[in-house]
Amino acid sequence: MAKKKTLFECQACGHQSSKWLGKCPNCGAWDQFLELNSKQIEILKEITPKKKDYLGAIPITQVEQEKIQRFSTYDKELDLVLGGGIVNGSMILVGGSPGVGKSTLLLKIAGNLAQKNKKVLYVSAEESASQIKLRSDRLQSNSDNLYLLSEIRLDIIFDELNKNNFEVLIIDSIQTVFSDNLTASPGSVSQVREITFELMRYAKDNGVAIFIIGHITKDGAIAGPRVLEHMVDTVLYFEGDSSRELRLLRGFKNRFGSTSEVGIFEMTKNGLISAKDISKKFFTRGKAQSGSATTVVMEGSRPIILEVQALVSESGYPNPKRSATGYELNRLTMLLALLERKLDLPFNQYDVFINIAGGIKINETAADLAIIAAIISSFRDRPISKDTIFLGEVSLIGDIRDVFSLDIRLKEAKSQHFKKAIVPTLPLEEIDGIKCYNIDEVPKLIEWM
Ligand SMILES: Nc1ncnc2c1ncn2[C@@H]1O[C@H](COP(=O)(O)OP(=O)(O)OP(=O)(O)O)[C@@H](O)[C@H]1O
Ligand SMILES: [Mg+2]
Ligand SMILES: [Zn+2]
Repeated sequence: MAKKKTLFECQACGHQSSKWLGKCPNCGAWDQFLELNSKQIEILKEITPKKKDYLGAIPITQVEQEKIQRFSTYDKELDLVLGGGIVNGSMILVGGSPGVGKSTLLLKIAGNLAQKNKKVLYVSAEESASQIKLRSDRLQSNSDNLYLLSEIRLDIIFDELNKNNFEVLIIDSIQTVFSDNLTASPGSVSQVREITFELMRYAKDNGVAIFIIGHITKDGAIAGPRVLEHMVDTVLYFEGDSSRELRLLRGFKNRFGSTSEVGIFEMTKNGLISAKDISKKFFTRGKAQSGSATTVVMEGSRPIILEVQALVSESGYPNPKRSATGYELNRLTMLLALLERKLDLPFNQYDVFINIAGGIKINETAADLAIIAAIISSFRDRPISKDTIFLGEVSLIGDIRDVFSLDIRLKEAKSQHFKKAIVPTLPLEEIDGIKCYNIDEVPKLIEWM
């Protein structure tokens, strides 16, 4: 008789071992190893990709396409991030730091759907039904089709699901739900995997769309197992700091759409609303100021006009300070070195601070030129007029390179009544009302300024 295979797993990080260990060699946690029972080992096997039966190659024209059916969340921004709406039977994980607005967003969506005659079950393991009702009053999410269940036990959640034909289920949050089958505590690797697995099976069998909320840890990962991200169809992260009103919802993984789209929301007393007039949120008009330059970044398919701010001040230290909020520090250091080299500017004696307005993070190089312009403007105390847009990637050798979607960016600038654009190459077609200046080297920028 074959010896029964045993498997132990760290409940903090999911590291597996054939014998019990006191300290996890992967994450360093003590006393976290738990022996998996046969059912858990089954689940583990089911979720690991396995070799399919060999069918042979077939012409692509004969591949049968799965029909994907979607329905709207009645929220423009969320629909955009999801790739056009919720896919029947799909599982969507929404992660975010405490207080960012996960419960607010999903209760609002639950309300939207219920008011459009979908039957929705909102399970909260964290808040009482009356707390949720209070929020729902505020969000105007009430509907006879929206059911609340304040529960942490998975089997009771399933009892409820089996009683009614719910079309959408929301779990707030996955880390607090608990299955009696396991001895591990809620939020541990085994619990989260088992619960997600059971829910996923239910979603696929019954065509129910399931949203699960996941807390994230300080370093930005969904608390607990990475395995969660592998199992679900879609992972969305909610970003933004709770002291500002703007929130970004970013796709991290999506089996049914692109992950490049970003949803932009505004936190108001009536809950999160799709940010109207996004284009006006991240820059100011008015008098020219030193250290401020404007650029256009692309968030997914959408252009957003941003103000970048620089402060350059004489340093009292042998190692001057560099700091960047919303911009990559390494890139700033590189740009400063370039300015020192090419233009003989003594930045080694100056502290330089960069800030991107509105708490946005710039993830592309098209803003380099605006960063340089803001730095020089602050250094020379020479204001830049607020009707100018800077676009261009700065290379290590000091030339300014083309940016993608130049036309889209310029059109956005035009719609916001900007008058001048500093660009590395002229756009293919002239844009009425915007005068483009072709600047392809950093020294030329200085001359222009
Ligand atoms: N009465 C109110 N008026 C306006 N905004 C409010 C009100 N109550 C709460 N908020 C906002 O809602 C945010 C909390 O949102 P929510 O509870 O949805 O976050 P969460 O991501 O679910 O947090 P947690 O991780 O703690 O569950 C607060 O940070 C606050 O900005
Ligand atoms: Mg919450
Ligand atoms: Zn571990």
